Amino acid sequence: MFLFFIVVSTTLIHAESPQIFFDWTVSYAHRAPLGIEKQVIVINDQFPGPLLNATTNNIVHVNIHNNLTEPFLMTWNGVQLRRNSWQDGVQGTNCPILPGQNWTYIFQVKDQIGSFFYFPSLHLHKAAGGYGAIRVNNRVVIPLPFHVPHQDLDILIGDWYNTDHRMLRASLDVGNGLSIPDGILINGLGPNQATFEFQPGATYRLRISNVGLKTSLNFRIQDHLMRLVETEGSYTTQEDYDSLDIHVGQSYSVLVTAKNQTNGTSYHMIASSRFTEPQLLGLGIIRYPGSVGDPLGPISPGPTPYDYIYSMKQANSIRMNLSVSAARPNPQGTFHYGNINITGTLVLKNDAMFDGHKLRNTFWALQVVDAIDRDFVHVVFQNPLKDIQTWHLDGHSFFVVGMEFGTWNESRMAIYNLDDAISRSTVQVYPFAWTAILVTLDNQGIWNLRSQNAENWYLGQELYIRVKSVGHDDPSTHISKRDELPIPENVLKCGKVIS
Ligand SMILES: *[C@@H]1O[C@H](CO)[C@@H](O)[C@H](O)[C@H]1NC(C)=O
Ligand SMILES: *[C@@H]1O[C@H](CO)[C@@H](O)[C@H](O)[C@H]1NC(C)=O
Ligand SMILES: *[C@@H]1O[C@H](CO)[C@@H](O)[C@H](O)[C@H]1NC(C)=O
Ligand SMILES: *[C@@H]1O[C@H](CO)[C@@H](O)[C@H](O)[C@H]1NC(C)=O
Ligand SMILES: *[C@@H]1O[C@H](CO)[C@@H](O)[C@H](O)[C@H]1NC(C)=O
Ligand SMILES: *[C@@H]1O[C@H](CO)[C@@H](O)[C@H](O)[C@H]1NC(C)=O
Ligand SMILES: *[C@@H]1O[C@H](CO)[C@@H](O)[C@H](O)[C@H]1NC(C)=O
Ligand SMILES: *[C@@H]1O[C@H](CO)[C@@H](O)[C@H](O)[C@H]1NC(C)=O
Repeated sequence: MFLFFIVVSTTLIHAESPQIFFDWTVSYAHRAPLGIEKQVIVINDQFPGPLLNATTNNIVHVNIHNNLTEPFLMTWNGVQLRRNSWQDGVQGTNCPILPGQNWTYIFQVKDQIGSFFYFPSLHLHKAAGGYGAIRVNNRVVIPLPFHVPHQDLDILIGDWYNTDHRMLRASLDVGNGLSIPDGILINGLGPNQATFEFQPGATYRLRISNVGLKTSLNFRIQDHLMRLVETEGSYTTQEDYDSLDIHVGQSYSVLVTAKNQTNGTSYHMIASSRFTEPQLLGLGIIRYPGSVGDPLGPISPGPTPYDYIYSMKQANSIRMNLSVSAARPNPQGTFHYGNINITGTLVLKNDAMFDGHKLRNTFWALQVVDAIDRDFVHVVFQNPLKDIQTWHLDGHSFFVVGMEFGTWNESRMAIYNLDDAISRSTVQVYPFAWTAILVTLDNQGIWNLRSQNAENWYLGQELYIRVKSVGHDDPSTHISKRDELPIPENVLKCGKVIS
């Protein structure tokens, strides 16, 4: 009896945070998703790259071999690396993996669940691919707030240029923006190439991410409703949508129940561009048993292309379900963010100007913003331009408390949702509008706050938030328990650091 107990408890400890290992080679290959061959970035010969399938608290090891001719960094979009910006894979905090070299990212997906994706952060590599899906599954002791789906499907949608990523970069370097993309891919494939099999009556969890460079997309499935359940690591109140706007860098989980049909009809999955002229269409196919041939009937047009009001209204309808548990046993609503006093407000107004020849984004008088651990910060993104913006914060999720057209001022705080705002890591800011977020800076390190629009990011629309702790030093190690993790032994060195 005694022995039995020991064996069981050891197994449980190991089951809590097992290590999982990935070995990835990043190399060039040629693909022609839209019929025009282009050099793409593959991982282990796959485009998109392999699924990073993890469970809450897993310690993830990803050994990346760079077989490109350019330096490379991978970032884990939306995953919260606890006190470990050493693994964040962005230029300001990490040295690149040089050609012919390899480096192992090691991070724990602590206290989180959800749908995310990874992508290369340097040199506009994302325009050549190199991205893939991340799932952080819940531990078995914490039930899902819905019936266990028949299957999870990862769906990566994004705009695509037939032009080589170096040419796109050269275009940005001489001050020309990126033109309208050549099309929209679904899982790296062109029109009607990505297919998904549905079993009659079964329910699927679609984990959808917009992995593109700059285009907001509307996602829908012909004649099927989608029940929204999760967004970047938080469970939502479960509402049905016939289409969802997914902006660059955002991830959503939806449940889709297959029809009980036996007549062999197939259906289109559609990812169409928002706010572009002309409208671009990404098409996939949902097949049922016995279905052959392409879907019948017209492709549903989706919402009016330039209807920003509709889009913002939908965004404001996405709320957190306060009573369900996510990664921890306590419900998501236990943290009453609405009762916390704000430590500081940062108003970020993006702008762009021509300084002679080059288009450079300005407002960046500030490059690094200092904050103290547990500061509760209020950030307002004000967009005075005619293009939609998307913002992402590494290392943290934030509450999206308000979004409105016009210019923000303090009186607008009266409309904030201080009860059940969604918590996520990427948020859109509509043209001539603002979005406000509240965030507890409780993760030591230096974290990238950036435009998810790859064009704006490349042109400098980012800053770093340095989160420091006060005191609490342990004299024996000189490391504060709440401080950032020590620099890893295998850290790559570059620039001034090289000694
Ligand atoms: C992902 O991991 C979970 C938990 O270990 C497992 O049940 C599932 O089968 C895995 N899925 C894939 C596609 O590997
Ligand atoms: C890496 O690149 C070299 C040179 O292009 C090639 O010979 C080799 O097969 C590549 N290895 C892998 C694993 O892709
Ligand atoms: C490079 O890869 C080798 C073999 O896969 C591995 O043993 C080594 O630890 C890796 N190096 C780094 C810095 O991750
Ligand atoms: C929140 O989740 C609970 C538990 O799954 C569910 O019973 C309830 O209906 C959900 N509330 C909403 C508004 O979706
Ligand atoms: C399919 O049939 C089952 C059993 O008759 C029923 O419970 C379910 O609601 C049906 N599903 C749909 C999507 O019509
Ligand atoms: C096949 O069955 C589905 C579900 O009952 C129905 O909506 C659809 O119209 C049918 N298609 C044809 C071609 O009869
Ligand atoms: C917030 O600030 C008010 C006024 O300074 C203070 O009375 C209150 O205790 C503070 N609340 C919290 C939760 O710290
Ligand atoms: C604050 O914004 C509101 C709504 O745009 C506007 O009506 C009001 O005049 C503004 N207040 C100030 C002081 O600018």
